[in-house]
Amino acid sequence: MAKIRTLPDVLVSKIAAGEIVERPASVVKELVENSIDAGATRISIYLEAGGKRLVRVVDNGHGMSRDDALMSIERHATSKIRDIDDLFSVGTLGFRGEALPSIASVSRFRMITAAEGSKSGTEIYIEGGVVRKIKEAASPVGSSVEVKNLFFNTQPRLKFLKRPETELGRVLGVIQREALSRPEVSFEVFSNNRTIHRYGASESLTQRVAQIIPGTELYPIDFEDETLELHGFLGSPLDPRSSMRRLFTYVNARPVRDRFINRIIMECYGRMIEKGKYPQGAIFIERDPALVDVNVHPTKSEVMFENQYEVGQSIRRAIGGMLADAPWMKSRRERTQKALEDFYEKQKDPGFPEGRGHSAAAPSAKKASTQAAYNPESVSQHSHHGDSSMLEKSPEAAGGDMFSDGFYSSLKFLGQVGKLYLVCEDPDGIILIDQHAAHERVNFERIKKSYVEKTFSCSQKLLIPEVVELTAREINTAGRFADEMEKLGFDFEVFGESAVRVKSVPGFLRDSDYTRVFTDLFDELDGLGDPKSLGQHLDTVCATMACHSSITANRTLSEQEARTLFADMDASENPHACPHGRPVATRISYNMLEKMFKRT
Ligand SMILES: Nc1ncnc2c1ncn2[C@@H]1O[C@H](COP(=O)(O)OP(=O)(O)OP(=O)(O)O)[C@@H](O)[C@H]1O
Ligand SMILES: [Mg+2]
Repeated sequence: MAKIRTLPDVLVSKIAAGEIVERPASVVKELVENSIDAGATRISIYLEAGGKRLVRVVDNGHGMSRDDALMSIERHATSKIRDIDDLFSVGTLGFRGEALPSIASVSRFRMITAAEGSKSGTEIYIEGGVVRKIKEAASPVGSSVEVKNLFFNTQPRLKFLKRPETELGRVLGVIQREALSRPEVSFEVFSNNRTIHRYGASESLTQRVAQIIPGTELYPIDFEDETLELHGFLGSPLDPRSSMRRLFTYVNARPVRDRFINRIIMECYGRMIEKGKYPQGAIFIERDPALVDVNVHPTKSEVMFENQYEVGQSIRRAIGGMLADAPWMKSRRERTQKALEDFYEKQKDPGFPEGRGHSAAAPSAKKASTQAAYNPESVSQHSHHGDSSMLEKSPEAAGGDMFSDGFYSSLKFLGQVGKLYLVCEDPDGIILIDQHAAHERVNFERIKKSYVEKTFSCSQKLLIPEVVELTAREINTAGRFADEMEKLGFDFEVFGESAVRVKSVPGFLRDSDYTRVFTDLFDELDGLGDPKSLGQHLDTVCATMACHSSITANRTLSEQEARTLFADMDASENPHACPHGRPVATRISYNMLEKMFKRT
């Protein structure tokens, strides 16, 4: 007797379901995507026990005739593609004809649907993959698909489901992803008979984004080149989140969680963003569907691009362009200038009281008056930047502006604590500055500038060349990068098999342990694989050098030294994060102090 047999259909569906249907959130994703594909403008989602007991998705899409309804529950039955060529021009979210039979094989499944013009609707009831009932039923045009007791016949799967609240959280995440890309569709979500979310239709994308990513300033991106179009909104690196949950990415309107795309986004933010943090926003990539393979993952959430390298470069240009423009800095500067303008306007008014009550304007006003830098003309000149690019103002941004020009120089220096933190006062409260992080930032920018501008300005000859011992791998790396490192102020030659002879170093490294700088640098370059030029990893290299050349913790700083550091910070482009992304300064406001002492 033959040992190989074909599996019964019900079992095949159940196996397929294992890949497609992982939890209630996957059911919701499949059903909502079917509704979107059916052209629905209104989708209602009913949930019980986080979707474990019930998921029902009701839409006003084109619905199905009786014949189509019967076909829809067959495996590999789809109205969306016909042949292999169609697979490479998929314009719909579904294309496999797998979702409904898979879901129906692991639940109690009821579909009621009616197509336009049909006399009556059709109801189909399936239990664990076995069709129990097919009958005529009254139904408006559209479909209602109900999935009860998911995994009732697949105990091991059931055990993997989490508490209803956790499952509900995932379901809502899926609905947000779907709703974000379809502002023209209204979504209502009911949990245990209560409305918990409502996104009204015909909103602009901007409004929908503001609903789903609230309380955040996001900046628009509109990019197009021969490879792709990219539009959307991304947040400032100063306002990141600890997970990627607020970063939504789409390819040809399909929500994806694609490692390649995410990696590029993170690379663009690079060291601007704190380690372990992620930007917020929504990115829509449009590319010729013939050049995008959507059939690479059972949940359709990953894609593969033809000419991936070019795609990556285009995404980099699109996001990099917005980041290079640093719109969040502009808007902060704008607000500070506006605050200054108001401050001066009010001062003209004899009844204007001075003091802490007007703290938002005060720090900059002080700077303006002492340095005579304020020019009301410049306010109007710059005012075209405006806040129009923002979706919403963050509440904390309305307070004193830590990022205004000359902020650090305007502080009152009180002293140093823990031989590391500089304590200052401004009209809003106490400012604490991490001296090492601050100095690292200043040096990082100087080193980078000298490399980019090829000034070689910082090189300093050593009286006696120093021999630095390195491993064979490091020597190899040293040989490869010797020429390029000259641009950073290093002059050295390979000396025997296991050492280099150092003749010059950048001046700011003179007092540091440059043997360690060398070993660290080469170790790091070695770990980067095979970089073609040092420029590709300039940030990494500069950060290492900056770290070695910076005032360390555990060093007493005089007021004069602190003031010099503040001036340097004000001159730097991004004084608020060290090159590794850690914050440089933090404020304890009077408000916070009042709360601490329970005065409010
Ligand atoms: N809500 C709906 N309204 C109208 N037609 C629907 C609806 N849901 C499913 N269908 C029809 O049933 C077919 C099968 O749906 P199913 O989700 O199983 O497969 P698919 O969407 O074609 O592909 P995929 O498995 O990738 O989701 C669809 O091709 C579509 O024609
Ligand atoms: Mg589908």
